[in-house]
Amino acid sequence: MQLDSPRYTLAFAAAVCVVCALLVAGSSVLLRDRQQANKLLYLQKNVLQATGLVAPGERLRDAEIVQLFDENIRPRLVELATGEYVQHPEVAPERYDQRRARADPARSRPAPPNLARVKRVPDVGLVYLVMRGGRATQVVIPIEGLGLYGTLYGFIALDRDLATVRGIAFYENRETPGLGGEVDNPNWRALWPGRKALGEDGSPRIRLVKGVAGPPEKNPYQVDALSGATITSNGVTRMLDFWLGEHGFGPYLARLRAQGGP
Ligand SMILES: Cc1cc2nc3c(=O)[nH]c(=O)nc-3n(C[C@H](O)[C@H](O)[C@H](O)COP(=O)(O)O)c2cc1C
Repeated sequence: MQLDSPRYTLAFAAAVCVVCALLVAGSSVLLRDRQQANKLLYLQKNVLQATGLVAPGERLRDAEIVQLFDENIRPRLVELATGEYVQHPEVAPERYDQRRARADPARSRPAPPNLARVKRVPDVGLVYLVMRGGRATQVVIPIEGLGLYGTLYGFIALDRDLATVRGIAFYENRETPGLGGEVDNPNWRALWPGRKALGEDGSPRIRLVKGVAGPPEKNPYQVDALSGATITSNGVTRMLDFWLGEHGFGPYLARLRAQGGP
């Protein structure tokens, strides 16, 4: 075949395409386990950040994250409707994927209309307990809800009193860096510890407000909104309202409160 013939050009282009497709497909399959492991590691790091066991922005090696998580955190499955701990017949809490369960009609139910625009609620949710000397000292609740450009996913950690915030962390968002994306800013996240997420009656009360909320002692139920990002800020308020409320983890938190702590 002549090197400058159309047939050679087409055959060469087709060969390049096949080789590239094989490379992409092969690397995707070969790296799938590594991707899953990295995803889990990132999730665990965010749980640790919400609890304050890892400072926002603190750099840790993978093995250190795994060790800190295994030594301090106990994942537990919760039936949302009753607030009771449950066991999954097949999946250990460490491997349970709440987001996948929420997307599965057999394992979730439609959410009532809500401002956070949560569409479905999983039957079983995944919480994390922070253990100290055999006692749970914090409970970490998963939260998710719509911002401006997409759904934000994160965690809020509550103290033993089930109202005081220990920290908040978002492990996924599509907001604009510098605006809504400031949910990841360590300075903003530092405003949260010490605030009260729930009122004395156990209902969600924390709000993001325009301006300066001041220190938690003076203004426990408010946090500074993100500047130039009112839509994202409202999204954060609304998702906390939903997930800490009666259709989210409210029954679980009420049960823990009734028994005097997690
Ligand atoms: C390019 C661009 C990106 C924006 N990204 C966000 C965002 O991530 N989150 C958000 O709430 N608002 C974002 N906004 C601003 C919103 O459109 C809206 O003006 C803003 O939420 C109002 O907030 P403010 O009342 O604090 O100014 C963006 C605006 C532009 C032009």
